[in-house]
Amino acid sequence: MRRNSSSAGARVASLVVLCLCITQLTNHAVAKHRKSSDEGKRREQEGPQPRDEPSGDQGAEEPEECVPLDVEALKDYPYCQLYERVCAHQDTLVTHDFRYSFANPKRELVPELPYVDIWNFPAALEANTDALRGRQPKYHLQFRAASAHEPTPALRHPSFSNCTLPVVLAPEFPFNMGEFFARAVSAVHDLELDPRVTLVMLTPQSLGLAPFHSLLLQPYSKYPLITSAALGARGCPLDMGPDPGGGGGGSGSDPARQRQRRVDHEEEDDSKWSGEGDGGEEEEEAVPAERPVAWSPDASQPHCFKRLLYCKWGIEARVAAPLAEVAARVVGAMQAAAQLPVPRLAYTGQEGEEGEEEGQEQGQQAAVSDAAPNDPDHDPRDPAQLRVLIESRHGPVRNIKNLQDLLDACKEANERGFSAGGFRGVSCAATSFADAATGRVSRARFLSNVAAVRTAHVLVVVHGAGATNSWWLRQGSSALVELRPCLFGTKYASWPDKYLPPQHQKSRDRIRFFALNVEDPDQCENGDIEAGLFNKTLAKGSLTWDQSFFARDKHLRLRPGPFLGFLRHVAALLAPGDTEAYVAAREADRLHGYLLPGGGLVLGKLGVKNATVWAEEEEVEVQTFNDWGGPRY
Ligand SMILES: *[C@@H]1O[C@H](CO)[C@@H](O)[C@H](O)[C@H]1NC(C)=O
Ligand SMILES: *[C@@H]1O[C@H](CO)[C@@H](O)[C@H](O)[C@H]1NC(C)=O
Ligand SMILES: *[C@@H]1O[C@H](CO)[C@@H](O)[C@H](O)[C@H]1NC(C)=O
Repeated sequence: MRRNSSSAGARVASLVVLCLCITQLTNHAVAKHRKSSDEGKRREQEGPQPRDEPSGDQGAEEPEECVPLDVEALKDYPYCQLYERVCAHQDTLVTHDFRYSFANPKRELVPELPYVDIWNFPAALEANTDALRGRQPKYHLQFRAASAHEPTPALRHPSFSNCTLPVVLAPEFPFNMGEFFARAVSAVHDLELDPRVTLVMLTPQSLGLAPFHSLLLQPYSKYPLITSAALGARGCPLDMGPDPGGGGGGSGSDPARQRQRRVDHEEEDDSKWSGEGDGGEEEEEAVPAERPVAWSPDASQPHCFKRLLYCKWGIEARVAAPLAEVAARVVGAMQAAAQLPVPRLAYTGQEGEEGEEEGQEQGQQAAVSDAAPNDPDHDPRDPAQLRVLIESRHGPVRNIKNLQDLLDACKEANERGFSAGGFRGVSCAATSFADAATGRVSRARFLSNVAAVRTAHVLVVVHGAGATNSWWLRQGSSALVELRPCLFGTKYASWPDKYLPPQHQKSRDRIRFFALNVEDPDQCENGDIEAGLFNKTLAKGSLTWDQSFFARDKHLRLRPGPFLGFLRHVAALLAPGDTEAYVAAREADRLHGYLLPGGGLVLGKLGVKNATVWAEEEEVEVQTFNDWGGPRY
């Protein structure tokens, strides 16, 4: 089946448009990132490698061994469908399976591939766009039978790779990190795929991957994650110059010649396929040899596959893996690849700037000396000093408006002898998990976020995707405090309560979850979207008018005393490796906090509808605090 790639191949190859190679260069760049983790494996399998990256001249090399995937087991897997003899071209899969062929008198209709039904547009904003009418039309790949008019030589003369097995992932909410981790990554974890499959992310509307996609799926394939667009990209011919991207500056006459040849080629094509019925004895057409790609062991970019899996996890999909187990795998892979940077976070009571940008951190003198973020056995934390890391957000919604007050109070509390559980001191730091201007989380930023949360005992976040970072906390000795703005933890509690609390409980409280529901109107402020609606600076038509979105998206201005009082409660239930007291508090309905009007705090269960009324009816003690979280009598 392999096509020869000599003279005629070279001719056809030169017809391919220049820009198509850019996708491949991107892939190589990803591969470069991934290299460290896979280097060992790759060396073992490929023997000595003269070069780091797959390059143009290895056409003669044998491909690596083929994927011995246990397809029988996978066929029963409810969320994946196996398709055979499939080619990929742009956003279309083309099946050569005889069961769908028009030549088959008993042919079946080509099935419709499952859609990504629900997703929000990933805007360059530090906010979920659901409240901004960001919901997008459902999306899927087209699926059709092979035709008389296939667009490329590779599709006209398919050679089905049995060494590259694409697993196309079509999860809901693909650009929400929390949803992606909880649904797609855990589902892939559950599949227990052979790491020699190629993972392909279905990104609607030709969108690119977010760095978190690649990093979270890193443990599950030895190849870089690619988009469905990359899977369907035309290849890059082998004999193109060394600088396929530099179209403008290169040899001036070439592009024109190529255009000319391309036209000739298309005309030739038309005459070949039109009119004459079955083109049995048409002129032999060569399939160009193409550059290998980082996502496949094939010697030339494959376009057609003996087998392809298409997996879609709907909202109702039940995925079994406890997320702490998945998280351990993800963090372990980062550590094994020595990807985690030394955190530059300082628990000095100043907001630090963790991330790839150099030079704007404050209070760096006392920077944590954590020399070994990639050593799984090294814990940089002083077991007696409670370290609290607070997420600092800068987008239009869900900011903590008085972060510095909280950090100052923390310092004050420490100086005045903070003591709770096994802790005899407290130090706080704040960091943003995203770039403040764009809301983007770059690859470097993502890795530094992982490293940063691993320096903390307690991570404090306002409800949102930032809470996903709680999964990177050190298991067995850490806690997450999720802040819910006014009404979001009571009236609309069924929303936040269905995510993290059961996920952490199912993970056997490896990371202890605490909700702090802010029910004091003085400690909540309208988010910018809601405020913009009321002051008429935001067009009504650009909004989804939904009270639960407005509740979720409020800003907070927390009173430091009750906040620190709640941290003492958390610290008291944070005995390393021992969740007994924590579980007992949950069973006694006094695990979570409600901040009441007037500055009081009550402890309770999740889902209390009106904390004031509930505290009265149940005669729950309302705790009050001085400014640094000490009890006020
Ligand atoms: C894969 O394909 C090659 C060439 O078509 C063939 O020689 C080989 O036996 C196949 N291997 C498997 C495992 O099907
Ligand atoms: C309206 O609200 C937005 C969001 O809070 C704010 O940025 C803007 O300054 C307000 N404009 C006026 C005219 O009050
Ligand atoms: C809770 O109930 C009290 C008494 O009915 C009421 O005054 C208060 O507004 C309610 N709180 C909330 C947040 O709805």
